Amino acid sequence: MPQPNLSARHILVVVTGGIAAYKSAILVRRLKDYGFDVRVVMTASAQQFITPLTFQALSGNAVHSDLLDADAEAGMGHIELARWADMLLVTPATANTMAKFAQGLADDLVSTLYLATKAPVWLAPAMNQQMWAAKATQRNLEQLQKDGVHIVMPTAGEQACGDIGVGRMLEPEQIAEQVAEFFQISQKEKNYQRKPLAGKHVVITAGPTREAIDPVRYLSNHSTGKMGFAIATACVQAGAKVSLIAGPVSLPTPDGVERINVLTALEMLDASEKMVKKGCDVFIATAAVADYRILNVANQKIKKSVDAEKALNLQLTENPDIVATIAHLTDLPKRPLMVGFAAETQNVEQYAQQKLISKKLDMIACNDVSRSDIGFASDDNAMTVFFAEKYQQQPKHLDKASKHIIAGLLIDAIVGLMNEP
Ligand code: PMT
Repeated sequence: MPQPNLSARHILVVVTGGIAAYKSAILVRRLKDYGFDVRVVMTASAQQFITPLTFQALSGNAVHSDLLDADAEAGMGHIELARWADMLLVTPATANTMAKFAQGLADDLVSTLYLATKAPVWLAPAMNQQMWAAKATQRNLEQLQKDGVHIVMPTAGEQACGDIGVGRMLEPEQIAEQVAEFFQISQKEKNYQRKPLAGKHVVITAGPTREAIDPVRYLSNHSTGKMGFAIATACVQAGAKVSLIAGPVSLPTPDGVERINVLTALEMLDASEKMVKKGCDVFIATAAVADYRILNVANQKIKKSVDAEKALNLQLTENPDIVATIAHLTDLPKRPLMVGFAAETQNVEQYAQQKLISKKLDMIACNDVSRSDIGFASDDNAMTVFFAEKYQQQPKHLDKASKHIIAGLLIDAIVGLMNEP
């Protein structure tokens, strides 16, 4: 095996087309956590599983996919890319990619990079157990090992196709750990890189609130808590102590999170005030708080109208704005970094910027909740983040990706603000 280069930090992640491609997104994030400079190359079939935009957002670099793309070649051509890499890490590696590498074919960007690089090559195969066991694949595996390729062996278990056997790609965290060990990144450095919120207390509001009309009915909205819970998970992974003030949602509590269940906006405000008055470093308001509640909640179930108009008139009163109230408190042990969200259906960015100022926030992440593929209830989101003027930071666009990936990117932005002098 080649000697590790201690100052090396360039990982060229190659994503080929398999269902495990989504795991590579998490891998890229973990590698970035370790401080690696990551560039991503994708085959055409990988792009059927996950978009280049996700990898662009995660790696912070343009994604390469074509050998004959004049624009890409003008930027960093395939030979430069092969030279840039301190490691070529193919995750997932399909049976087809293994066969091409074993044969020395060079008919696309990925196979050409394999021949053109001097860097160590790591392959994390992922495929159906029968394909993995096939004689041809095992022959190619043997050839690649003889050629000095390091194989991150697949594990056994249930596969996406329903089969049970060997062929599952190792978990991204474990691959990243092995790569960090290969480059001899010290435990101290790993801990620092991976835990940028160590010693910090983050308070998060999540989910909807529920405002009673009578003992059986209420006003609420479509929030499921997915976004807030993903942020809570990301904060724990980043080393923070996390308090999650959750409206009525059916999600399990993420590991390591202190959860406070509330129902109404007034309860959420009360729990938030109590928590921040004890002292916290960051307050993140992802909750979709009902802006109004019923002025006079009926003690008994309201009976169907018997009048001619067949209408029921409810008188509403405004709820307090939780995040704005917290941001304007002057008697806190310390002012937390205030992060808001904005859910809009029109003029999304304009309204978000107004809320950033009027609610006295440091940062606001806005999403377009008129879209059915992101926002409420979806597993994905796409956001634009605006920063308070004092930070002099350009808005950040986070392209559509899973809420877990978006959560990680928001943590990066928060850490960036906390590290401001
Ligand atoms: O929960 P999911 O299904 O995953 O959906 C995620 C989400 C769409 C709810 C989330 O991404 C999101 O956009 N959350 C903010 C929802 C919202 O109420 O936005 P808003 O624009 O109405 O409020 C702006 C900010 O003020 C928010 O940070 C909100 O938490 C806060 N607010 C609003 C009203 C109020 N009375 N008190 C508040 O603190």
